[in-house]
Parts: sequence; C-alpha cells; structure tokens
Amino acid sequence: MGCNIAIDGPAGAGKSTIARRVAKELSFIYVDTGAMYRAVALYLLKKNVNGEDAAEISENCTGARVSIEYRDGEQIVMLNGENVNPSLRTEEVGNMASRSSANPKVREHLLLLQRNLASENDVVMDGRDIGTTILPDAEVKIYLTASAKTRAKRRYLELTEKGIACDLDEIEQDIIQRDERDMNREISPLRQAEDAVLVDSSEMTIDEVVEEILRIYREKVEA
Ligand code: DC
Repeated sequence: MGCNIAIDGPAGAGKSTIARRVAKELSFIYVDTGAMYRAVALYLLKKNVNGEDAAEISENCTGARVSIEYRDGEQIVMLNGENVNPSLRTEEVGNMASRSSANPKVREHLLLLQRNLASENDVVMDGRDIGTTILPDAEVKIYLTASAKTRAKRRYLELTEKGIACDLDEIEQDIIQRDERDMNREISPLRQAEDAVLVDSSEMTIDEVVEEILRIYREKVEA
C-alpha cells in the first residue's frame, strides 16, 4: 500500500504544477487524473461523439483504453497504444472532458486505473474527486483553490507566453462555467472533503504553496 496525497480543486488552481513539485520533493509518483479524462475526451472527439449526448458518451467511452507510463519521471498517457500527451491540453479537449467526465460510465472506466496506481505506489494524485471518492483513506488531502480572476490571469499569461492569442474575460467566463459544471454534476462533484486542508493560492507563490503542502504532509505523516 502506497502513501497517498490527494490534491483536489477547480481548473487553473495550479494543481498540476504544485502536485508535480511536491511529488518530486518526496520522490513520489505524480498522477494527473485530469489527463486521463482528457484522453477519453480526445477519443470521443475523434469519434465525433456529441458532448451533450450522455447515451452516446456511455456507449463509446469504453473503446478508449487508457494507461499510464512514466518516462524520465513524466506521466505519459497512452490512448489505445498511442502517446497522446501532446494533444491533451487544448481548450476543445478540456471542454469535452468537462462534459464527458460528468458521465458515470466514463468515471467508472477510469476509477480502477486510478486506485491501482495509488495502491501500488506512493503518489501525489490530483483531480476533482480524489479525496472524496477515489482515495477516501489518503494520508493527506488538500483542497487547492484560487479566485476565478486569479486563475484566469494565470491561464492568460500561460497562453500568451506560448504566443497564443486569447481574451482574458473569455477565459474567466470559461473557468466560471467549468467550475459550475464540475461542482454541480450529480456524480463525484468537485467539493472539499471533510478532512481536507484548504489552501487558497490566490496570494501565494508556487514555492509557498509547495512548502505549505510539504509542511502539512510532515505534520500528518512524519509526526
Ligand atoms: O484538471 P483538468 O483541467 O486537466 O481536467 C479536465 C476535466 O476533467 C475537468 O473539467 C474535470 C474533469 N476531471 C474530473 O472530473 N475528475 C478528475 N479526477 C479530474 C478531472
């Protein structure tokens, strides 16, 4: 049984950057569950499945064979034998993932993969329902959040640095809509687990957040 750190929170709170850094500090494996939902979404998009049609999503999602490999410490998501990492971070895939991840069949499809990784390894796993549903017995649970404005600004900077033209207000609206869907869906909605520690990163640097999570880990696990 591995030692498990669960980090949940809304889109753009910095979960993946922070979780990756914490995992490195502790020599744990970093598991990005959002990337798994994105891989299923990519598969559905390739099959021209309508994101609003739950029956079509349920019928098709099991055709997406998702597995995880690690190369130089980086998580590689394999979709039906192909490395799909380069295709996962587009807005189109993110929006489809936000819709299709509300589907019980999609969640059931990925649940075992996530639990197996956590039982066989020391992991820092990030997502939306890790502390509440996937790993209810995780040794450390963090709910990482930041205001919608801060998250939109971070995303805006990330995209403009890559030379991608974008609009700050549009990004903020997109984030608010995604929060709305993630928090209000029937199955595994995004919410803070009762025993999770809330970390609001709005006014914190990445280093400060990493330090804070390591401090919480030491307090809970090493004490
Ligand atoms: O964290 P992300 O943006 O890569 O996640 C993509 C979508 O997947 C997001 O809209 C919510 C969903 N997701 C989920 O429902 N449960 C998880 N454990 C991780 C992500």
